[in-house]
Amino acid sequence: MLIEGKKVGTTTGARPPGRAWFHLPAPEVGASGCGPTPESRGYLGKPERWTLRCPTRNADSAHHRVDARPDVVTRGAGASVHLMTIEYLGSKSQLLDFVLRPILEQADVHTVADVFCGTASVSRALAERGRRVIANDHLHLCATLAEAQLLGSATPCFDGLGDVIAPRDGESRYSAVVRQLNEAEPVAGFFYRTYSPASSLNGAGRMYLTEDNAGKVDAMRLQIADWEGALTRGERAILLRDLVRAVTRVSNTAGTYGCYLKTWKPRARQPIALAALPTSELPRRSHEVHRSDACEVAGAVEADALYLDPPYTKRQYAAYYHLLETLVSGAHPPVTGSTGLPPWQEKSSDFCYSRRAPAALRELLDRVRTPHVFLSYSEDGHIPHETILTIMRGLGRVRWSERATRRYRSNSRGRDRGLVPERLYHLVLQT
Ligand SMILES: C[S@@+](CC[C@H](N)C(=O)[O-])C[C@H]1O[C@@H](n2cnc3c(N)ncnc32)[C@H](O)[C@@H]1O
Repeated sequence: MLIEGKKVGTTTGARPPGRAWFHLPAPEVGASGCGPTPESRGYLGKPERWTLRCPTRNADSAHHRVDARPDVVTRGAGASVHLMTIEYLGSKSQLLDFVLRPILEQADVHTVADVFCGTASVSRALAERGRRVIANDHLHLCATLAEAQLLGSATPCFDGLGDVIAPRDGESRYSAVVRQLNEAEPVAGFFYRTYSPASSLNGAGRMYLTEDNAGKVDAMRLQIADWEGALTRGERAILLRDLVRAVTRVSNTAGTYGCYLKTWKPRARQPIALAALPTSELPRRSHEVHRSDACEVAGAVEADALYLDPPYTKRQYAAYYHLLETLVSGAHPPVTGSTGLPPWQEKSSDFCYSRRAPAALRELLDRVRTPHVFLSYSEDGHIPHETILTIMRGLGRVRWSERATRRYRSNSRGRDRGLVPERLYHLVLQT
């Protein structure tokens, strides 16, 4: 049952008189940091526009060449992000045919390690095509999305919850669990106190979520935590994934969480509601999911191929998706600044610094033991094409293919972004 858009509880409109669900504990958030811009408040200054259009979604297949500079940039999918799970910078969900083709062409590649898995769009697509997948990302958010995609059943039955779940006529247990989460009474928890206007009591007045929605988010997250001992790893991940999807739909942002908008966009005023996500059953393989540093996993993993999709710009995922990362991790970190940023530096990536990125790639590749390595990288990235080729040629035989994608510009408001080559390198290691 799809319950998207259903009105839930009292999450819209004015708070009912006499209802006292919100108790405000002692202040917990800081209030320093940069001031507001005309449209937004955030350390990045301006709101981002990055949900790009994708006019050539099923565009031509990639042009494959061997170790020679391609002179044809194929028309390809835009740099758009598709919402199988959530909107995510650098998601390859619109480039799957381009990314998968060279991997699937290798008859000796049965197990692939996707060590910067993000939304797990590539992991999931490989698993659907019968490959065994080892997914990894250092964020809780992404490891959990991967667990939902790889370890969750298409028809999760939540047996461990027993009679706590009471399906109605024709309702699956999964839909009943989702309905019960949607019916949770709001509480004045961490998200309410930190990321809704209620935080103004502490001097911040953040507008990521309405007070009503933030209270519901707190209640649903608490309920999932309460159930945790009775859930399988896949079931827990499915519920958190559904919560993340619901939060992204009502977040008062332009996509990422570096800032929030200063006025409510219409969708942010909608009541939050989880929706059961229908998926298909995967071929039976024993997939793995890790939450670790990509370099460590790359050096230790038993696989036939490594798929690398590292960040290629200065945008640090731990900061850009801080609110979702906190939601999934279940932590209540101290936050600072007008944006309520928790400490994220521990999860900063060397690939996001132009000076460090080439060395980070070299170090990672030096550790690799799989016969094949596939690397996604954009011409707009910190590491120049020629540098990538030089590093790879020191290790084996290199091919690459490229496809033109729409350039992402956080401040161009969707105009004049132009096309930029997205490349897929294939390194066959010398033995
Ligand atoms: C370009 S995104 C991957 C997108 C993914 N292929 C998809 O389709 O959604 C890069 C990912 O690398 C992760 N990451 C960055 N540095 C990392 C590191 N050192 N170890 C593990 N993951 C890292 C980020 O959290 C982010 O999810």
